[in-house]
Order: sequence, then structure tokens, then C-alpha cells
Amino acid sequence: MGDRNKITFLLLLATGLTFALFGFVAINYSDYHHQLEIAPETSWACGTAALESKHESLLSPAAVTGKEVFKQNCKACHRMKEKLVGPALTGVFERRDSVWIRKMIVNAEQLRKRGDKQAIILYREYGQLEHTRFTSMNEPTLDALLSYLKEEY
Ligand code: HEC
Repeated sequence: MGDRNKITFLLLLATGLTFALFGFVAINYSDYHHQLEIAPETSWACGTAALESKHESLLSPAAVTGKEVFKQNCKACHRMKEKLVGPALTGVFERRDSVWIRKMIVNAEQLRKRGDKQAIILYREYGQLEHTRFTSMNEPTLDALLSYLKEEY
């Protein structure tokens, strides 16, 4: 091998190694970021407390499913123990009955239009913020959600 070929070879080798190193660093870096993004319990909105949660082994299977539903649909506005956009939901079964709670979740506006006092008072108390409607939530999902609300306190 002539000197020139040796130099070319070494240069190619060095370039190859550099790329490999960058690739490795980049992959690990993005993995690291990915891990940060998928830590919802700790990185949720507004720097407020994480979703209080009992260990899942203490929840019934239905409540575990309900917890997922809660995380996806309710967590933006509700916590169990503290007021956020909406009321804290711990103990909600002590102040309301479960039929009312279901109606509130599915269509709060309809509840108010039918003259439900509790719904009207609550609506005024919370700055007349229209509750998100969950009209397409099916019965089993609602059951699971309510199990979670009952069990997580
Ligand atoms: C966009 C914010 C928002 C979302 C999303 C939301 N809520 Fe609400 N929730 C509120 C507000 C605000 C109130 C107060 C009543 C009102 O505004 O009509 C409330 C009231 C309630 C009440 C009555 C509480 C009480 O003290 O009587 C229940 C139960 C409830 N929400 C459950 C849920 C559930 C379960 C979900 C998810 C499926 C959910 N909410 C999603 C904002 C929200």
C-alpha cells in the first residue's frame, strides 16, 4: 500500500468512527428525552402535583381501566385531592349519587337545562365553564371510570 492509500484509508476510518460515535450519542440522547416525555406522572400540566395514585395492586381491575380513562380524559382538569380547573373528586360519592355523576360526565349542560340545582350551582361556582361532554363514552367505560373515582381517595 502506498502512503497515499494509507492516508486515505486512515481518513475514511476516522470519518467512519466519528459518524458511529455521533450516531451512538444521538440515539442515547433521544432515548433519554423520550424517557423524560413518557413520565406523565411527574411531568403533568402547570407544575402542579402529580396525579395522586394508589398503587395499582390496590385497585380492582375495573378501577385500573378507569384510571387510564381518567388520565386520558379528565386529568387535564381534575385531581382527586385538589381543586384544579374542576373540583377535587375525592369523596364525590358522598356529596352526589352515581346516576347524577354519570349525567354530569356525559352531558352536564343537559343536566342544567333540566333544572338540576346542584349542576347549576356548580357551574356558577366554576366560572360557568362548560363541562366537556362525553356523550360517546360507553357504559362499560363509565362503569370503570366510576370504580376508579370510588376507589382512589
Ligand atoms: C375542560 C375541563 C374538564 C374536563 C376535561 C373534565 N372536567 Fe369534570 N368538571 C370541570 C368543571 C369546571 C366542573 C365544575 C362544573 C361545571 O363547570 O359545570 C367539573 C365537574 C365535575 C364533576 C362534579 C364534581 C362535584 O363536585 O360535584 C364530576 C363528577 C366531574 N367533573 C367528572 C369528570 C370526569 C370523570 C371527567 C373525565 C371523563 C371530567 N370531569 C372531565 C372541568 C372538567
